[in-house]
Amino acid sequence: MRDIFDAIQKSAKRIKVAIDTKDIGYSQQENSSGETQLELDIQCDMIIEEEFSRVASIHTIASEEKEHEELLHENGKYFIAYDPLDGSSLVDVNLSVGSIFGIYEGAFSSDKMVAACYVVYGPRVEMVFVENKVKLYLLQAGDFEFVKEIRLNEKGKLMAPGGTQQNWPTYHKAMIDGFFAEGYRLRYSGGMVPDLHQILLKGGGLFSYPATSDKPEGKLRRLFEVFPFAFVYEKAGGEAVDGKERILDLCCAHIHDTSPCFFGSKSEVAKVKEVYAANA
Ligand code: F6P
Repeated sequence: MRDIFDAIQKSAKRIKVAIDTKDIGYSQQENSSGETQLELDIQCDMIIEEEFSRVASIHTIASEEKEHEELLHENGKYFIAYDPLDGSSLVDVNLSVGSIFGIYEGAFSSDKMVAACYVVYGPRVEMVFVENKVKLYLLQAGDFEFVKEIRLNEKGKLMAPGGTQQNWPTYHKAMIDGFFAEGYRLRYSGGMVPDLHQILLKGGGLFSYPATSDKPEGKLRRLFEVFPFAFVYEKAGGEAVDGKERILDLCCAHIHDTSPCFFGSKSEVAKVKEVYAANA
C-alpha cells in the first residue's frame, strides 16, 4: 500500500502542474458517460496510468476516462478505480477540482475495498488517504505533510444538495427544505471532491445526489466517485446510503454504473433513511 500512496502523491504533484499550465480546451473525444473530455482529463488520466504502471502490486486499473479496465501486473493484488480529474469543467472558472481513488483487493467489489483516497486541487493541494483512519495531508514545499486525522461530528451544519431541483422527487425537496428551515447552510460548488471535503473538515452535514426524473439511477459513478467517498465517510464516523441501502453493500455490474447517493454525519443520514423509507 505504501507504493500506491507514493504513486498517488507523485500523480497529484504532476496533475497540479498540468492544471496550472496545460490547455483546458475540449478534445474530440467523449468518455463512457457521454461527457466530452477536456484535454486536461486525458492528460491527468495518462499521468495516473503512468505512475500506477510502475507499481507492481497493482493488478488492474479502471478509469472514469477509459471504457474498459486495464490489466497492469498479473501478480499484483490491488484493483484501483479512479477519476483522474473530477469536476474538470470547473477549471476554466478557477474553482476547486479533485482526483478520487478507490483501492480494492482482488476485484472491483464494494466489500473488497481496503482504502480510498482523494486529492483536492484548490488554493492549496490537500490529500485525504484512508485505510482505518481518515488522514489529511497538505502539499507544502513539494511534499505532502501529515496534518491531522479527521472525524465527523454526529450532526453538522452544511447542506450540499446536488441534481436539478425541478427533477427531484417531491419528498426529497421537502426533506432538503426541512434541513434549510432548521438552519443548515448551502455549500455547493458543483465539484464533488471540494463539496464533500468541506463537509468533512467543517464537522458535518449532508451531500446528496438523488435519483431524479431525468437520471433515475443518479449521476455519480459507483466505482469512481460513490464507493470511495462512502468508505471515507464511514471511516470518519459518518454514513453513506443510496436512500435505501448502505452504499458499500451495493454491487457494481458495470464499471461505469451510477447510483443515487447521500453522504453525511449520522444525524442527517438518519433523516434521509427515515424520509426515503416512508416514501419507498
Ligand atoms: O461527476 C461530476 C460532477 O461534476 C461532480 O463532481 C459533482 O458533484 C456533480 O457532477 C455536479 O453535478 P450537477 O452539475 O448536476 O449538480
